[in-house]
Parts: sequence; C-alpha cells; structure tokens
Amino acid sequence: MRLHINIDHVATVRNARGTAYPDPVHAALLCIASGADGITAHLREDRRHIRDDDVRALRSAVRTTFNLEMAATDEMVTIADEVLPDVVTFVPERREERTTEGGLDVLAMRATLAARIQKLQAKKIRVSLFIAPEHAQIAAARDLDVEQIELHTGEYAHAFGQPGEEMERSKVQMAATYAKSLGLEVAAGHGLTRSNVAAIAAMREIEEVNIGHAVVADALMMSFPGAVMAMRTHLDVARS
Ligand code: PXP
Repeated sequence: MRLHINIDHVATVRNARGTAYPDPVHAALLCIASGADGITAHLREDRRHIRDDDVRALRSAVRTTFNLEMAATDEMVTIADEVLPDVVTFVPERREERTTEGGLDVLAMRATLAARIQKLQAKKIRVSLFIAPEHAQIAAARDLDVEQIELHTGEYAHAFGQPGEEMERSKVQMAATYAKSLGLEVAAGHGLTRSNVAAIAAMREIEEVNIGHAVVADALMMSFPGAVMAMRTHLDVARS
C-alpha cells in the first residue's frame, strides 16, 4: 500500500507567522526519506496554506509521486498544466469550510470535469476524483475515464469508536470492491490516524492512502521521520 503524506499543515504553521519556516519542501523530503511513497498538497483557491511557489518547489524537489489536489476550476487546471504534477486529484472546495467536506458530486459536474480531465490527461497527468463511497459516484467517475478515485474516509473516521463505525467501514469496503471491479485504481483519505487506519489498510482493493493532519500532528511530538515510520508500521501490520 502506498503512503502519501499531505504536507499542507506545515504551510499552515509557516503562514501563521509569515515566516519562511517551516518549509513544506523540507518536510516533504523528510517524509520521502522516512518511507513515504509520495507527497500530496492542496492548492486551495484562498491559498490559506500551500501557495503557488510551494507547488513549483515541490514539483522540482519530489522525485517520487507528487499529487496536487485542487478544485476543478480553470485557474487550477492552468496551474497544473504548467507545473505538471504526476497526479491531480479534483476535490470539492468551499471557501468557508475548515477542510474538504464531502466528496465531489461527479454526476452533477460531469461536463465541467470531462473537459478538465481530458486537458490534464493530454499532458500525461493522471487524474483522481475525491468522492464519497457511493456506487453512483464511482460509476460516474468510471464513465469519465479517470485513472483513480480517492474514497472519502471522513465519515468512517468520524464514526470511529462510535456505534456507526461498522456501517461506515463497510460502505468504504463495498465502494472499494465496486471501484476495483470497474477497473479503477482505489485510494482513500481524510481523517485517517494511527488509531483508525488499520481497517482501511486491511482493504486489499485500496492501493494508496493520503494522510495529512494526523501525521503533521504526530510530527510535532515525534519528528517527521518518527511520524511517517509509525504510520508506515501501522499500514504494514494491518496489511500483513
Ligand atoms: N485526501 C484528500 C483528497 C484531501 O482533500 C485531504 C485533506 O486535504 C486529505 C486526503 C488528507 O486529510 P487529512 O488531513 O484529514 O489526513
């Protein structure tokens, strides 16, 4: 299973004081040196954490997979077209939200997404769609010929340790099985931590996880190498 670390919140700490440190590129390189398979960053429309110059610097520094998350807008697609990340993950975005809430409504956005997906794929950028674990969204993603979907695990994470946990876990499992049966590569992410990741990592259909907030929080206590290695161990144990 590939472990991609989202380093957005390194930029959150930097931007809180308007300093040049901590540097998201430095964090990205520490993550890779410590066993991460790739780096994920979200260029939000309001640039609240990652900024345009970070995206360019990450692209030249990250020699493994660089996954750029973005809203499906013309502005963002133009940036991706220039920066050439390995993967673009389209995510829904609302300015007032604290983090990405919910998945893309692929059914409603079909036409908007289709043109943008084709533009990126023409540049050999792989496209992933961040969606809720729902069959209709998965089928719509498949119809758009994307390479990958990322299943939103936020509801599972929210229910973890609560009565709804098993229901949310099985929604992710059923969605992963269905997506894989359609030939899609399956990733998962949002709200994953060392405590709740095992059930997701145990799903053989899921080939990648994108984890941000919990790893950056762990890094405050145990360093980036410690946080990435601890997460890696949790994935490997769950998968064995
Ligand atoms: N995957 C996607 C598509 C996201 O938008 C985010 C949050 O930016 C993550 C994964 C990581 O979520 P978290 O920070 O909760 O681990």
